Amino acid sequence: MRMIMLGPPGAGKGTQAAILANTLKIPHISTGDIFRSNIKENTPLGVLAKSYIDAGKLVPDDVTVSIVEDRIQKPDCKKGFIMDGFPRTIPQAEKFDEMLEKIQAEIELVINISVDDAVIIKRMAGRRMCSCGRTYHIENNPPKVDGVCDACGSKLYIRDDDKEETVLERLKTYHAQTSPLIDYYENKGKLINVDGAKSIEETTKEIIAIIDKINEK
Ligand code: AP5
Ligand code: MG
Ligand code: ZN
Repeated sequence: MRMIMLGPPGAGKGTQAAILANTLKIPHISTGDIFRSNIKENTPLGVLAKSYIDAGKLVPDDVTVSIVEDRIQKPDCKKGFIMDGFPRTIPQAEKFDEMLEKIQAEIELVINISVDDAVIIKRMAGRRMCSCGRTYHIENNPPKVDGVCDACGSKLYIRDDDKEETVLERLKTYHAQTSPLIDYYENKGKLINVDGAKSIEETTKEIIAIIDKINEK
């Protein structure tokens, strides 16, 4: 299964992608996670990305596209992947189509998780992250031990871009640059909308039912 998780910041893309990757045994590829691990290691890519991320803006398309192009050629992507946070602009989506064509592959499904801006702002305030890719929420999805990842035991952290003023910028960026992708994939007949205001478990169930239906065809 080659699929994309689309949706505003805080919709639950990362949460759902991590669960689905585990269930489907395919890699979860998050461009945001790739940037954050580069920021942590202080690589040149991390230094560049940080200036955009902290401002709630997008990292330039050419940088992001070349990262994804390298990543999808790795052997673990042969059986498919779950893209989380990419593509995020129309030019990225067009480049993505071109690179998939080169490896004779195509996107089978785009899940668009929609959530109102007001809910998003509340969710971001309680988010806690682990460097392994798992995401928690202090109320909606707390770890078993306060501040510690259930999966790997690492200490959880708060993202620098989860400050309210940065979240508001990220929402503006989403509406201006990313939301046009809804029509882009709708026109290709790939898009399915999912209501992200439901619980994490209900949303997972809904997405799995959609995937099962596609696999039956
Ligand atoms: P990225 O890391 O992709 O951030 P984002 O798209 O803004 O999305 P988030 O990760 O904030 O939200 P999410 O949908 O994954 O929600 P989550 O599951 O965590 O990108 C960060 C930055 O990197 C960008 O701003 C940009 O600068 C740069 N970047 C990345 N990709 C790029 C690209 N392709 N091009 C250019 N720049 C790029 O859930 C949020 C919270 O809610 C969590 O606490 C979770 O536990 C909770 N939650 C989730 N689902 C539910 C639910 N159903 N009910 C209740 N709580 C829930
Ligand atoms: Mg995420
Ligand atoms: Zn972890």
